[in-house]
This record gives sequence, structure tokens and C-alpha cells, in this order.
Amino acid sequence: MKFIAPSILSADFSRLGEEVKAVEAAGADWIHADIMDGHFVPNITFGPMIVEAVRRITSLPIDVHLMIENPEDYVKAFAEAGAEYISVQVESCVHLNRSVQMIREYGAKPGVVLNPSTPLQSVDWILEYVDYVLVMSVNPGFGGQAFIANSLDKIRELRRMIRAKNLSILVEIDGGVNEKTISAIADAGVDIFVAGSAIFGSRNYKDTIDDFRKKIED
Ligand code: DX5
Ligand code: ZN
Repeated sequence: MKFIAPSILSADFSRLGEEVKAVEAAGADWIHADIMDGHFVPNITFGPMIVEAVRRITSLPIDVHLMIENPEDYVKAFAEAGAEYISVQVESCVHLNRSVQMIREYGAKPGVVLNPSTPLQSVDWILEYVDYVLVMSVNPGFGGQAFIANSLDKIRELRRMIRAKNLSILVEIDGGVNEKTISAIADAGVDIFVAGSAIFGSRNYKDTIDDFRKKIED
């Protein structure tokens, strides 16, 4: 099963509820929520209140991507706001195993995120405790950036690591996913495709998501 997760960072925030309903109706599988604090990344977005508002108007799983410092301080709030998936950046966690345990303790499924130049070795000893790994294919902070090409090699190497450890965890990609890059990304072995500008910047969300599914399956 492959999942398409529109990132609401690129949605029209003056009509956020309508936008979430529109991508749900267009066939999205997850809703990707980019949480930014202006410290870990040079941008500020939104907090648990918005996640809670989104929770009220969609039945899709909400995939919270924490691009914040001290993410463990906010895990409880996002879990209680209704996040089904919560991922933390390995670069922001001194005690990554504790952060992952905490996410699970609050009832969400934990993921770890790697920035483009962060080595895969940094997740060697946490892989068995997470439900998914999110590979950043842009430098976090903004939508609409270009896909970093060597992310494909990184995805393939991550796949090999997961197979070697005999684990069944999901691989998620985030950043610069669009109609030009999605086929090669799918071939590299991705399960969850985050796309912000490619979906919310398109004229017809259903056509775009259908086109993505077709390219993933081909
Ligand atoms: C970037 C965010 C991504 C971003 C993706 O920091 O984590 O989820 O919204 O946007 P696009 O798909 O436009 O690159
Ligand atoms: Zn994201």
C-alpha cells in the first residue's frame, strides 16, 4: 500500500478547513502537518490548536512533522490534539530513544526524520523502535523547493538497512515530490509520499493525486 500525504503548509490558510476536506475528497490518505518554531528551521507555522481543528473536520490520519527544538516538550499536546503519527528530527533530539518512547506512550505512532545531509547511521539504534522513517529531500522550512537528487540513493540505502534488520517499517519522503520526481522516488522504495505545493498548487487535486498514484503504480 502506498500513501499520499498532502502537506497543508502549502494550503490556502484562509480556507484551511475547505482545503483539508478537498484533498480528502480528492483521495488523500494522510494529512501532513508541518510544525515549525522559527528556531530549528527559519520559519514559523502552527501548533496543536490547528491540528485539533483539522482533527475535527477530517477522518484521515494526521502526520505531525515536528521541526522544532525540544520536540519532547510538545509530544503530549500534539498527541492529545489528535496526531496519529508524530515524527521528530534526529538533529533536534539529544535523547532520541526517550523521545520515541514518549510518542508511543502518548498513543501516537513514532517516526524519526533525517535532514538531507544527516547520515543514515544516526538511526541505526532506533529503527527497531519506530513505525516509520521520514527522509527529507529538501532543507526543511519551506514548501516549493527543488528535490535533492541524492535523496534517491539515501532511500535505497535505508531500504537495505531495514531489510538487513528484518524490520517492517514505513519509509516516508518529504520535499520536492511532484509529477516529475515521483516515479523515480517510488522506484527507490518509498511508502508515504508527502507533497505540498505539487498538490495545493495544482488546479485539480483529484487529477493530481490520481496522476501520482498512476506514476507510483507504473
Ligand atoms: C518542509 C516540509 C515539507 C514541505 C513539502 O520543511 O517539511 O513537508 O511542506 O513541500 P513541497 O512538497 O512543496 O516541497
Ligand atoms: Zn514535512
